[in-house]
Amino acid sequence: MDAHRLYRATGPKKITSFRRKLLTSSASDLPLSLDRDAAESLGSQLRRRLLEAIRSGALRRGVRLPSTRALAGQLGVSRPLVVDAYAQLAAEGYLALRQGARPMVIVDRSSAPGPDAQDVPAADSIRFDLRPAMPDVGMFPRKAWMRAIRTVLNNLPASDLGYGDLRGSPVLRRALADYLGRVRGVIADPSRIFVTSGFAEGRALTCAAFYARGARRLAVEDPSYSEWSSVDRSGLSRLPIPVDAHGMRVEALAGSGAEAVFVTPSHQFPIGGVLSAERRQYLVRWLRERDALALEDDYDAEFRYDQAPVGALQGLAPDRIVYAGTASKTLAPALRLGWLVVPPDLVGPMNAELRRWSEGPPRIDQDALAELIGSGAYDRQLRRMRRLYRDRRNHLLTRLREALPGLKVEGAAAGLHVTLQLPQDVDAGGEAAILAALLRRGFATEGLGRYSATAAGPRRLFLGYGRISESGIDHSVRILSEILAGRPMRGAS
Ligand SMILES: Cc1ncc(COP(=O)(O)O)c(C=O)c1O
Repeated sequence: MDAHRLYRATGPKKITSFRRKLLTSSASDLPLSLDRDAAESLGSQLRRRLLEAIRSGALRRGVRLPSTRALAGQLGVSRPLVVDAYAQLAAEGYLALRQGARPMVIVDRSSAPGPDAQDVPAADSIRFDLRPAMPDVGMFPRKAWMRAIRTVLNNLPASDLGYGDLRGSPVLRRALADYLGRVRGVIADPSRIFVTSGFAEGRALTCAAFYARGARRLAVEDPSYSEWSSVDRSGLSRLPIPVDAHGMRVEALAGSGAEAVFVTPSHQFPIGGVLSAERRQYLVRWLRERDALALEDDYDAEFRYDQAPVGALQGLAPDRIVYAGTASKTLAPALRLGWLVVPPDLVGPMNAELRRWSEGPPRIDQDALAELIGSGAYDRQLRRMRRLYRDRRNHLLTRLREALPGLKVEGAAAGLHVTLQLPQDVDAGGEAAILAALLRRGFATEGLGRYSATAAGPRRLFLGYGRISESGIDHSVRILSEILAGRPMRGAS
């Protein structure tokens, strides 16, 4: 039981002793337990619980964790499972592993990101940022944004500076309805659009509304975008469904027991497949037969380089699918602007959830985005970024082909990263070791372990090109091939 659940189950008294037990310089007997009936794998639970303990400050910098053998014995799990969890946390910069010594926590609470934040390696250790799904924020259209803000401030009546509609600015909701219909084939009416503080808030809201409507089990792609805390807090349990080159293996939904599904059809995150037409049809049929709901994360659909992007799934079943978009990839994550298009039946539950926790993003920024869209500046920015990302992607593919011709690259010509399959003999620990070796040389990226504890098949690296120049790409691929030449790489024990 984790600290949060323990608190809910027993109140503050017990949690205090739980925390006291953890707040030692040597945690030789960690008060952790794993739920064998949960959909989440034991390895993923273990990694998550350790991470929560570090982030909450319960396991402080300098604390030594039990040896892999001792913890495996205590929890009644296999030793490789603990080895993998430790290796993953080491690759992410939380633990130091040294042969013959017990793993040590090397971050403290203040430097460990909160549970809803991205795992960010220390900024000064990163010289080349190849993390996936990171846009080039240096290209943020500052001038166009300033113009848009000025226009909004010149025209916004004082009456619009009070508390407004919780669903968001009517001006932006109208602009989004037109834009999403035109560009993504989304069937959108402003009354069914909610402006949210990024996709993160949109997903939290959607999961809470799914739960309120009676759903208890959420099918999720495996591997998948891994920020799960708000999903877990909603009360939904997660059922992992495998993915392949054509996106989610939707046939596995039958008999899964899920009443809702979270899917990235335009560009599966992180593997990179596009959900095939047959699977789209199957999924929509399943939603109707099962009276189920879907959340479609359309996070980077604007960036497709070889053809026009496939339209949103929502267009096939607007009464069943919550469509989610974000400005985090097209403009910048710092804006914290996202949007949902919600089936008519869900507008009421969404509003009710929203009232419980949010006042929505700032009105002036919302209207500035509407102005950017309406003036054509948003489309111009997208065209500019598409060209830039396409060129970087092609450059990265060329360099990978030259330096690592035996390794397969997966995924559609889309988005902000490519998926590189690692050699057959690299296991989860090896993948973590490669990431750690890259980080030691100043390169930050992520591997399959960050997004799945259970996915079968080859280990993978996700190489982002959103934030790296062509010369940075040259350098990165050279270093990566040097590191891979040092194989076979196995995890720490
Ligand atoms: C798969 C996926 N969906 C959505 C998002 C956007 O999240 P937000 O709008 O909260 O920044 C991200 C950001 O990294 C992502 O990787």
